[in-house]
Amino acid sequence: MAFRWKNTLTHDDVTPEAHWLNRRQLVAGMAGAGLATMAGGASADSPKPDSWEVITSYNNFYEFGTGKGDPVKHAHRLTTDPWSVRIDGMVDRPGDYAFKDIMAKMQIEERIYRFRCVEAWSMVIPWNGFELKDLLDLAGVQSGAKYVAFETLYRPEEMIGQKYAVLDWPYVEGLRLDEAQHPLTLMATGIYGKAIPNQNGAPLRLVVPWKYGFKSIKSVVRITLTDKEPPTSWNKANGREYGFYSNVNPNVDHPRWSQASERVIGGGLLAKRQPTLMFNGYGPEVMALYEGMDLKKYY
Ligand code: MTE
Repeated sequence: MAFRWKNTLTHDDVTPEAHWLNRRQLVAGMAGAGLATMAGGASADSPKPDSWEVITSYNNFYEFGTGKGDPVKHAHRLTTDPWSVRIDGMVDRPGDYAFKDIMAKMQIEERIYRFRCVEAWSMVIPWNGFELKDLLDLAGVQSGAKYVAFETLYRPEEMIGQKYAVLDWPYVEGLRLDEAQHPLTLMATGIYGKAIPNQNGAPLRLVVPWKYGFKSIKSVVRITLTDKEPPTSWNKANGREYGFYSNVNPNVDHPRWSQASERVIGGGLLAKRQPTLMFNGYGPEVMALYEGMDLKKYY
């Protein structure tokens, strides 16, 4: 499993946006000519990121309200500097890690990932960030650790949605340790080469591209290494609908809707539903993590 992810596109392909428009036309042409684009090879990177405007205005961040347009309206209240992440539990070097110190140590790269929400919509996002594994290595994971728990900031004066009990605050998430250490698992600190906007989870948020979007917890303030499967917000809210694993899987429907296809956000005139890919298209990289597991049972 010792590979490092390589984008098939370079930074030059992503910025400036005018360049993207050209590329889009090219892609549209390819689609018209019946050539494979998005639905192609499982590990193929998508060639068509959504625009900055779409990515930063259509959000789920319940700490700022439950509407897709609420986070962009209210997240400016969030103070993100200073920021630190407490890393504790089964680690050799527990403590509060200042965001600026983390940034000074990490190698920031661009990852253009498909992003699939459990609500059956999807985007393509050019993230900037570093592998979670590198952050865990800073703290030194102890041998008995099996899971990683994550927590979002709790600050209702700034996160005005936290005044309402729509979820049991703070938002919490978790991964198995091998999922957390997988080279695809990213701590995102930027989008399109700019600092990640508050509504997308400033100053740092998790991105796990083969899992439904709700696993990708925003504005992380605590990371705890543990030997027990940690509780997760959506599982606590409705365990029948949201499991711990939440791998993107077109063959396991949500109890209230199909997961076989997805609505492409920001596709404009070209928008149509597209088939959902197993593990969101990252099967070749991640399926070994789930060998022998019944993915219907461990949804
Ligand atoms: N993290 C926190 N703290 N609060 C949230 O409400 N929503 C999740 C996830 N992370 C959420 C969160 C859901 S449901 C999705 S689909 C993604 O964030 C959305 O990320 P985006 O707004 O950057 O597209």
